[in-house]
Amino acid sequence: MDRQFDRLLAIPSDPREGLYRAMRHATIGGGKRLRPLLVFATAQLFAVDKACTARVATALECIHVYSLIHDDLPAMDDDDLRRGKPTVHCAFDEATAILAGDCLHALAFEILADEATYLDPFARVELIASLSHASGPSGMAGGQMMDLEAEKASFDLPTVTRLQAMKTGALIACAVECGAILGRVPPEGRTGLRGYARDMGLAFQIADDILDAEGDEALAGKKLRKDGAAGKETFLSLLGLERAKEQAALLVDQAIEHLKSYGPEADLLRDIARYTLERDR
Ligand code: IPE
Ligand code: IPE
Ligand code: MG
Ligand code: MG
Ligand code: MG
Repeated sequence: MDRQFDRLLAIPSDPREGLYRAMRHATIGGGKRLRPLLVFATAQLFAVDKACTARVATALECIHVYSLIHDDLPAMDDDDLRRGKPTVHCAFDEATAILAGDCLHALAFEILADEATYLDPFARVELIASLSHASGPSGMAGGQMMDLEAEKASFDLPTVTRLQAMKTGALIACAVECGAILGRVPPEGRTGLRGYARDMGLAFQIADDILDAEGDEALAGKKLRKDGAAGKETFLSLLGLERAKEQAALLVDQAIEHLKSYGPEADLLRDIARYTLERDR
C-alpha cells in the first residue's frame, strides 16, 4: 500500500506541494490496512489479478484515510494524534487537511473509473456505485453525522447499531463487496460474504469502542478515553464493558459461520474476523 500511495502521490513542484505532502503524511507509513486486506482476502477466493486488486484496495484506503483526516478536524473529534503521528491539520493546517481529504475522496473514484482497474466497464461502474453508496449519506458520512448526534441524544441499541453499521460497517462491507465484484460473483452469490462483512464490521467497531475505554494510547497511536468524556452513546455505554465484549465475540463467531460454504481458501477472512477482537491498535 505504501508503494501504491508513493506512486499515486508524487509531489509536484508547484503550489500544490503542501497538499501532496499532507496526503502522503496521512496515507504512507501506518494504519492496519484492514480495508485493503479485506479486498485482497475476498478477491483471492476468486483468483482475481493482483494488480487490479491492489488498485481497488488503494481506492478503499483513500476513502478511509480521507474519513480519518476529516474525523480528526477540530470541528469533529479535534484530535492531534493519528497512526502514531500528528494529525494532518496539526502537521499542516486545517485548510490543507480539508483539501487533502477532498482530494483522496476524489482520487478513489478516479482510480476505480480507470480502465487499468478492470477492463469491463460494467464492473467498474458497479465498483464505483458500491463505494459511493458506502461513503455517502447512507454510509460513512451519514454515520459520522449520527455519531456527532450521539453526544447529545440518548440513542437506543438499534439506533447505535445502525449508526455503527453506517459509520464503520459500510466501508468494511464495501471492501468485501468489491472483492466479490472483481471476482464476478453475481449479487445472489454474495449472501455469505455480505453476512460475514456485516457481522465483522460491527465487531470491529465494538472493538474500537472497547479500545477507546481500555486500550493503550502508545500502541493505538491515537487519543483514547474520548467517547466516555464526550458522553457519546456507544455499544459500551449501552451494554457495559463485559456485555460489549460478549457481543463482539458472538458477532465474530457469526461472521465466521457465514463463510461455511468456503474451504481453507477463506481462512484469511476467518483470521481477519478473529483479529478484530485480539487487536491492540
Ligand atoms: C479507525 O479505523 C476508525 C474507525 C472506523 C473505527 P481503523 O482502526 O481501521 O484505523 P487505521 O486504518 O488502522 O488507522
Ligand atoms: C471514526 O470513528 C469513523 C470514521 C472515520 C468514519 P471514531 O471517531 O471512533 O474513530 P477514531 O477512534 O477516531 O479512530
Ligand atoms: Mg469520530
Ligand atoms: Mg475520532
Ligand atoms: Mg473511536
